[in-house]
Amino acid sequence: MVDVLVCQQGDLKDGDVRIVAKGELEVGIYRHAGKYFAYQNRCFHQGGPVCEGVIIPKVEDVLAPDRTLLGQRFNEDEMHIVCPWHGYEYKLETGECAADKKLKLRRYEVIERDGGVYVAL
Ligand code: FES
Repeated sequence: MVDVLVCQQGDLKDGDVRIVAKGELEVGIYRHAGKYFAYQNRCFHQGGPVCEGVIIPKVEDVLAPDRTLLGQRFNEDEMHIVCPWHGYEYKLETGECAADKKLKLRRYEVIERDGGVYVAL
């Protein structure tokens, strides 16, 4: 494994993503709620560049006591990465596919050292 420099500490703000490459491998490094998350830039569906997608809050149904649908709302406690090709959604903090928990983006370690942010590839 090699630590690849992503940026200097403080360069990425919450909500930012940066994609780094090593050979054929691309990894998206996210900053969210003061933490870093890094995933392989490859969607389980058809291999799309998932880390180039938008980040949105989870969409939840709002139900009445009789279970009829009243509408929908955003849940800011769970942010999702949305694949730009066909819309598969992955939980930003775990890489787990929102529709199928068996599918999980490959995760990489992010290291903060000597003023830099590195990803171990
Ligand atoms: S390739 Fe990502 S949703 Fe199809």
